[in-house]
Parts: sequence; C-alpha cells; structure tokens
Amino acid sequence: MTSSRNMGQPTQDKNQPKKGSYTPAPGALTYNAYLKVNELKQLQICQSDPAHHDEPLFIIIHQAYELWFKLILHELDEVFAMMAAQRVRKATFFMRRVNEIMKLLAHQIHILETMSPRDFLGFRYNLSPASGFGSSQFREIEFMSGLRYPELLEHFSGDPSYETLKKRMEQPSLGEAFYTLLAKKGFKLAEAGESAGEAEIEQAQNKRVQEIAKLYTDEETYGDLHDLAEAFVEFDELLFLWRANHVIVVERMIGFKRGTGGSEGVGYLQTTLSKRCFPDLWKVRTVLEQPEGGAGPQSQSPPGKGGGCPFH
Ligand code: HEM
Repeated sequence: MTSSRNMGQPTQDKNQPKKGSYTPAPGALTYNAYLKVNELKQLQICQSDPAHHDEPLFIIIHQAYELWFKLILHELDEVFAMMAAQRVRKATFFMRRVNEIMKLLAHQIHILETMSPRDFLGFRYNLSPASGFGSSQFREIEFMSGLRYPELLEHFSGDPSYETLKKRMEQPSLGEAFYTLLAKKGFKLAEAGESAGEAEIEQAQNKRVQEIAKLYTDEETYGDLHDLAEAFVEFDELLFLWRANHVIVVERMIGFKRGTGGSEGVGYLQTTLSKRCFPDLWKVRTVLEQPEGGAGPQSQSPPGKGGGCPFH
C-alpha cells in the first residue's frame, strides 16, 4: 500500500519485522534454546572460595577441550564405519575433520599462558586430586587410536566411564581396522604369533612395512589408501604436537612440581612424547628409497632437455 504523503514509498507492514531487526514469533526455536546456552553458562562452578578471577578461564578451556573430544569420538566412529564399508575417500574425509579439530586443540592450550604461575597457585590446590590424567574422553581417543595400557583402564575402575573405556579397549584400533581394509584390497600383512619373541615381532613388522610401502611407491594405484594413511600420520603428528605444547605449558605454569593427579608432573608427561598410534606408517619413511630417475616429477624432464631441479 502506498500513500501520497510518503511520496510513493511502500509503508511498513505492522506485522513484518523492521528492516535490520528480527523478532522471532512466539514459541519459535531460538539460538539460545537450540544450543542450551543458558544451561551451558550454569556449568562453570569454581572450587576456590571466594572464586579466584582466573578459575573460570581454567574451567572453560577444559570444558571446550572435552566438547571437542566428544566430536572427535563421534567422527572417529564414522571413520571406522567408512573403513568397514570400504569407503576409503569418505574415511579420509572424516579423518581430515578430526585433524582440523586437532590443530585447534594443539594451539588452544596456549591461552592458559595468559595466567601467571602465581595466580594459578591461587586456586590450583583446590582442584586436587582431579587432573587431566582422569579425562576419560582423552583415554577413549587414545584407546581407539591404538594406545592401550591396561593400567590406564584400571585408573577408571568404579568410574561411570569404565565400561565405555573397556569396550573401546576391546574393539579393533584404527590401525587394525586400516589393516583389515588393506587385506581386503589384496595386501599381505605379516603378523607375529601370540608367543613370538622380540626378534620375530621385529621381523614381522619389517615385512609388513615393506608391503605398506607400496602405498607410497605406487601412489597411482593406491592413491585413496595412501591419502588415508597420510591422514593417520597427520593425526599422530598433531597428537604429539598437543602433548609437546601441553608439557611446555605445564613446565611454564608449575615447573617441576608434582601433578594434582599425583604423577611426577613434567617428568611423566615427557615419557608420553614418544607414543605413536601408527608405528608402521612412521617406519615406512625409513625404508623408502630414492625413486629411479631423480627426486620427483619436476626432475623427470623429457630426454635431451637437460632437466634436474635448478634448486638442487
Ligand atoms: C595450567 C594448565 C595445566 C597444567 C599445569 C596441567 C598439568 C598436568 C599434569 C601435571 C599432568 C600429569 C598428571 C598429573 O599428575 O596430574 C597432566 C596430564 C594431562 N593433562 Fe594437563 N595440565 C594443564 C592443562 C591441561 C588442559 C587445558 C588439558 C585439556 C584437556 C589437559 C589435559 C591433560 C591430559 C589429557 C593429561 C593426561 C596426559 C597423559 O597421561 O598422556 N591439561 N596435566
């Protein structure tokens, strides 16, 4: 409807929201309701009394980690399902999402360095004996990735998460599921028998690694499987990066004090840096040999055209 007084401009319909503003209809789903923002905001309970200014930072960063851990577990379940269905590209697709989350997690820890070591001491002892050591979701991720230590499972006996962790420990790991997939694609993967000694275990690994090296020497044939293997290696690298960043932040915050969980602290955390989820995929690097005809595609110039990379 127009009128002569507003020079032909359409008048504002009273039932329509004003330009640039939006009022949801009564009962419509809102952002806050969908994401349970009000409930989320109730979940930060300080142990210090009076509450220390920095404790909300400490709580929120850990809660953010736990939310991302939850999503990682959800995505890893999908990676397993896709591998079982031999949908290699889809398995890689979800593994890449996991890796993007891991990149964020590796760096997020540094936010804690905006807290001074002395301020941390203002509430640290209120947290004892709770510790990241008791993060059941972190252990689930480790168990699924093949890092399985019965003593870590026992740490959770009596905890509501025990049964889930036990199930994760009994299920095939990512590496085992990947080998089942490779076997279906014709790979012959040696395995040492149950009673094998160290020498036999090493021999079987060496044979396995030689077989897996085909993923890297014949990328044309095994492109999709190669990309999935590399996504696993990247995951392992990012887990290491998280551990390395965590341990240096811990040293910066508490030096060589013992952990609230009772471990030696930095000394214990340093022993975890050598953990690898996919040792065979790492070992492949050592056995790979220089390709015939040079270091890479650029150096393979047509005959008689000189060739060779100018930077080497
Ligand atoms: C001021 C910051 C932090 C300090 C001083 C700290 C300290 C420690 C210490 C000393 C341990 C060894 C276990 C113990 O005796 O308590 C540990 C383990 C652990 N922390 Fe932290 N931490 C910090 C932040 C974080 C954050 C933000 C996370 C994120 C989830 C986290 C997750 C873990 C995990 C998963 C472990 C077990 C590692 C393993 O056993 O491989 N920590 N932490």
